[in-house]
Amino acid sequence: MFTSDTLQGKTILITGGGSGLGLAMAKGFAKCGANIAICGRTEKKLEEAVSEIQNISEDIKVGWYQADVRDHERVTAMIAEIVEDFGSLEGLVNNAAGNFLSASEDLTPGGFKAVIDIVLHGSFNCTHAFGNYLINNEKNGAILNIVTTYAEGTGCAFVLPSACGKAGVLAMTRSLAFEWAEYGIRVNAIAPGPFPTEGAWSRLVPEKVMEEKFINKIPMKRYGEQEELSNLATFLMSDMAPYITGESVVIDGGERLQAGQFNFINDLMPRDKLKALFKSMRP
Ligand code: HXC
Repeated sequence: MFTSDTLQGKTILITGGGSGLGLAMAKGFAKCGANIAICGRTEKKLEEAVSEIQNISEDIKVGWYQADVRDHERVTAMIAEIVEDFGSLEGLVNNAAGNFLSASEDLTPGGFKAVIDIVLHGSFNCTHAFGNYLINNEKNGAILNIVTTYAEGTGCAFVLPSACGKAGVLAMTRSLAFEWAEYGIRVNAIAPGPFPTEGAWSRLVPEKVMEEKFINKIPMKRYGEQEELSNLATFLMSDMAPYITGESVVIDGGERLQAGQFNFINDLMPRDKLKALFKSMRP
């Protein structure tokens, strides 16, 4: 579906692009010919990531920028630096996030604020600076926000700041998709289910027993693979999706569908026994 020129001529900034899913998406975009800018807080991580991305192709330009997305002033300066270095900027992926497990009654205001600042304020800061650059220069562009399956509908126990922050980002996605459509700016989201990374899993899935339960509740009985996520991100950032905006695409192996009232039956006994039981119930 994708070729080495699917994203040619586009420069894309990926926040938190130095590791995990951000780096996976950066590599996926690079394979499709995009120039890549990544930002994050840790210089060493960014430097290593840039050389990994550059190894994919000599025909693209890759750069890193030290920035904490919570800092609006720094983010605005960074967008100007990227435009100066690359000549233009066509895409932004708001991937940088913060999260940890905590009973909500034990959260401190500082803990709640830390996550909301990274997830919600960070996404706003980057979107605001990038959006202004596009609007002032009468350029089209695409914004992709990485949210979660619990941002919509359910919320989520033990990760309250993340649930609130990501719900806000989803609201921002839809609000701006409408408001900025007339400027030719598309704003979409991806809601990934479980895609294990060191950063997320060390904070969210510390025990083996948790891991087993996690996999068991996914109908496909496996985690997502990074390439599956980067393929979806590539599609949404590309000119293959010019009429898609305000959409949040779930990619989770069916995990979010657990709420189906009779879904639990699947785990009660093997399928052949279930079928025999259903047969015995027929009038
Ligand atoms: C309770 C905690 C805590 C913990 C930090 N805090 N960790 N509270 N439990 N485990 C509190 C601190 O006590 C402090 O509050 C406040 O949070 C800020 O802590 P700092 O360490 O000073 O902040 P900072 O260095 O900015 O770190 C931010 C962070 C950290 C969010 C706390 O975890 C981080 O940098 N994370 C980035 C990477 C990450 O989280 N990746 C996973 C994203 S996964 P006080 O009150 O003492 O000042 C994701 C996907 C979800 O989002 C979907 C999965 C399926």
